[in-house]
Amino acid sequence: MKISTSILSANDRIQAIKKLNNTNTDYIHFDVMDNKFVPNQSLSIKEIIEYANVCNKKIDIHFMVEEPLNYLKEIKYINFHNITVHLEIDNLENVIKELKKINTKIGLAIKPNTDINLLDKYLNDIDIILIMSVEPGFGGQKFIENTPERIKIIKEKIKNKNIILEVDGGINNETIKLVDVDIAVAGSYIINADNYQHQIDLLKGE
Ligand code: DX5
Ligand code: ZN
Repeated sequence: MKISTSILSANDRIQAIKKLNNTNTDYIHFDVMDNKFVPNQSLSIKEIIEYANVCNKKIDIHFMVEEPLNYLKEIKYINFHNITVHLEIDNLENVIKELKKINTKIGLAIKPNTDINLLDKYLNDIDIILIMSVEPGFGGQKFIENTPERIKIIKEKIKNKNIILEVDGGINNETIKLVDVDIAVAGSYIINADNYQHQIDLLKGE
């Protein structure tokens, strides 16, 4: 399984990115929040640009915002591995239409209590599904127990499609064993330790 390290919980995010550049994390996960879609704020456009400039890993960006287009127009020149937006936002069709003009994989994130069937109509437009295993907004929360069940149902839906599955929230060396996905996002489990590589090794079972 690939690991995407979330820098949300780092005290010094630039320092954390520089440290992660020297590990074998597969991606670095940027959490963007607008204090509207979620009750928390993180990463201004200026910070996204600043962080992307020091990041040598592929960037997995997760927009927990109501209006991703406000950000995209200023950062679309950055080479993101994927840009992930939420299924629950207004105007999603239009946002996806704009994302298709950018050279990036398109991700769709789904909150823990959102009906899985709402994904159906987008399955031909997206490359990644990001299954939230905590309520979005904060790092360090507990993994929600019905996530493996939701993953199973989603896997069945996409079995004939080329869609990457990613899970985000409460991932540690125990909960990672419960999720059968391609990419696991881990924040506090890695960032709260001094030795990032050691934590990544434990997640990868090495
Ligand atoms: C939560 C964020 C996550 C978070 C993960 O809203 O989307 O990416 O940073 O952090 P942990 O691994 O600590 O749950
Ligand atoms: Zn995230």
